[in-house]
Amino acid sequence: MRCVTGWEKAMREGLGEGFSPVPVQALGQVDSTNLRLKEWARAGEIRAPYVLAADSQTAGRGRLGRTFVSPPGTGLYMSVLLCPPESTDPGLVTILAAVSVCRAVEEETGLRLQIKWVNDLFLRGKKVCGILAEKISEGIVLGIGVNILTPPGGFPEAAGNAGALDRPVDRFRLSGAIARKVLLGAKNPGDPAVLAYYRARMFLLGQTISFTEDGLQKSARVTGVSDDGGLVVEGTDGQKVLRTGEVSIGSRQVSFSRLE
Ligand code: BTN
Repeated sequence: MRCVTGWEKAMREGLGEGFSPVPVQALGQVDSTNLRLKEWARAGEIRAPYVLAADSQTAGRGRLGRTFVSPPGTGLYMSVLLCPPESTDPGLVTILAAVSVCRAVEEETGLRLQIKWVNDLFLRGKKVCGILAEKISEGIVLGIGVNILTPPGGFPEAAGNAGALDRPVDRFRLSGAIARKVLLGAKNPGDPAVLAYYRARMFLLGQTISFTEDGLQKSARVTGVSDDGGLVVEGTDGQKVLRTGEVSIGSRQVSFSRLE
């Protein structure tokens, strides 16, 4: 596993003041940055906080066991090992990740991403970033994959739903800026400003979604996000908070699980 020249230095610059003791590593190719951090943490080789970024992944993983295609040179694949306070609601960590990426991308590129609950980030109707948060006994591994440029063959596996930032951006620096926001936010997981930002960027708001409950297909209108990150919906049987499962808008499936 080779280091990428200049990446760690640029990541440190993006991380900025106050985080010099945090170890950062940038590798050319890995199986999966989430897998690496989980394995290293379980073996006692690293402990939180720790940041790992890679140019490409051979076994990039998405939520619900899906593959996250991670070709070289066009994306940013990174994971942060965090150890938030024991009492932290896992949903808030996922929300923190989504908000951190939106803020860092806006600062570095000027682009305003939108959030599809719970943790997919969209630009002009296409998914440009996915987030996979996984709990282990040593902490939480927060995996973030951003499509920076459209690869030469596009995203054939995504059936037209994936896109990229397609803006000139220093992805090395961006990885540091994202890590900074995640690490800062993890110090104060219930920060109302993070939740307010999340709500303001969420594009399911007001839409009618379908979901399955107790084996029955239901539909309801999305009215908000609860303080612990659940999706608040209003249906014919009243208001409820959805926390895990699958919802769809029209014919499009939207899966959600806050933490795997
Ligand atoms: C999803 O969209 O379902 C989540 C995708 C998460 C992908 C990132 S890329 C870095 C980290 N390593 C992985 O194997 N997955 C996450």
